[in-house]
Amino acid sequence: LGGGMVPGAVMLIAGEPGIGKSTLVLQVALHLSDKQVLYVSGEESAEQIKLRANRLSSSETKIKILSDTSLENIIYQAEVHKPEVLIIDSIQTMQSERLESAPGSVGQIRECTQILTGFVKKNNLPLILIGHITKDGSIAGPKVLEHMVDCVLQFEGDMNHVYRILRATKNRFGSTAEVGIFEMLSTGLREVANPSEILISDSTEELSGAVIAATVEGARPLLIEVQALVSTAVYGTPQRSAIGYDLKRINMLLAVLERRVGFRLSQKDVFINIAGGMKIADPAVDLALIIAILSSDFDLAMKKRWCFAGEVGLTGEVRPIQRIEQRISEARKLGFERIIVPAGNLKNLPKQNNIHVIGVNKVEDVLHKVFQKKQD
Ligand code: TYD
Ligand code: MG
Repeated sequence: LGGGMVPGAVMLIAGEPGIGKSTLVLQVALHLSDKQVLYVSGEESAEQIKLRANRLSSSETKIKILSDTSLENIIYQAEVHKPEVLIIDSIQTMQSERLESAPGSVGQIRECTQILTGFVKKNNLPLILIGHITKDGSIAGPKVLEHMVDCVLQFEGDMNHVYRILRATKNRFGSTAEVGIFEMLSTGLREVANPSEILISDSTEELSGAVIAATVEGARPLLIEVQALVSTAVYGTPQRSAIGYDLKRINMLLAVLERRVGFRLSQKDVFINIAGGMKIADPAVDLALIIAILSSDFDLAMKKRWCFAGEVGLTGEVRPIQRIEQRISEARKLGFERIIVPAGNLKNLPKQNNIHVIGVNKVEDVLHKVFQKKQD
């Protein structure tokens, strides 16, 4: 949030059902032990919330829980109990009797948000709204909600993995460049202080197709393992699939490899996976992906202590990227010996100690520097 909750501010935490929104917000409430919190749930009973709270924290708390969906009653209770923080889980379950439409409809979401916002602005306390998003990523009850709140935090992750990322997509009172990275344990969400250490697999073996990318999520440098598996297509049409990275971008990279660098990949199946269930949007992953694809295709393992950062353009050029120094220092911190980066980023870069920084202009250059063995 960039310094904490501002009184009167309305914060929306959005995420798919089951991702951990209620858990996160309840943990926040449990941490605010010196504040009077009113946690309103339209989804769970007070007993269920109490049981969960006991599992998440052993200390005494004075959180008040209200299991209700009637907005008028919620406002009445809030006026009586005068909380210092108000939590609504979820806005889609709330219903104002002023409207006839069903809970979750655009009208109800807008009306309930307006009334709640009016209440917290008048009484000067922060409001946390939980909102479900559908699989396609839109906050149910379209974009109405995003415009009405001061801050939108998206809670994302892959349900089959333990990692979760909380990112600000709108923040009236702070930066949108911050991210929080958590793991979901049986005792609730725990902050991951050194995400890179977890996202790089620990195997001592060097395996073909696994390459480390020096990425940046929000303002945070993150080293992650990207994996590629390239094999001859068994059936007519080669398969292309990607988990954690945009498939269109991967198809573009494959076309660059085919047309600009001359690798025949069109008859091969290509599978891409970002380790740890992370979803990465940073285009600087391109270079590591290209190396992973070729490493798998050649069946030549990449050196364990090398990592990559660079965006690849349609002509096969390796384009300069943002936050190069942060990426390099994260790689150095984790003991990497060498980082391959766009040559265009070297111009104003101060001399780096304890890590070898290599600049490349084109995909061909990097192949030459990385896969020398192949050409011997
Ligand atoms: P929940 O917070 O209910 O998700 P949301 O409110 O976004 O729908 O939590 C979702 C899942 O998290 C639930 O299926 C069980 C799991 N979970 C844990 O693994 N550990 C825990 O301590 C808790 C509370 C939940
Ligand atoms: Mg929930």
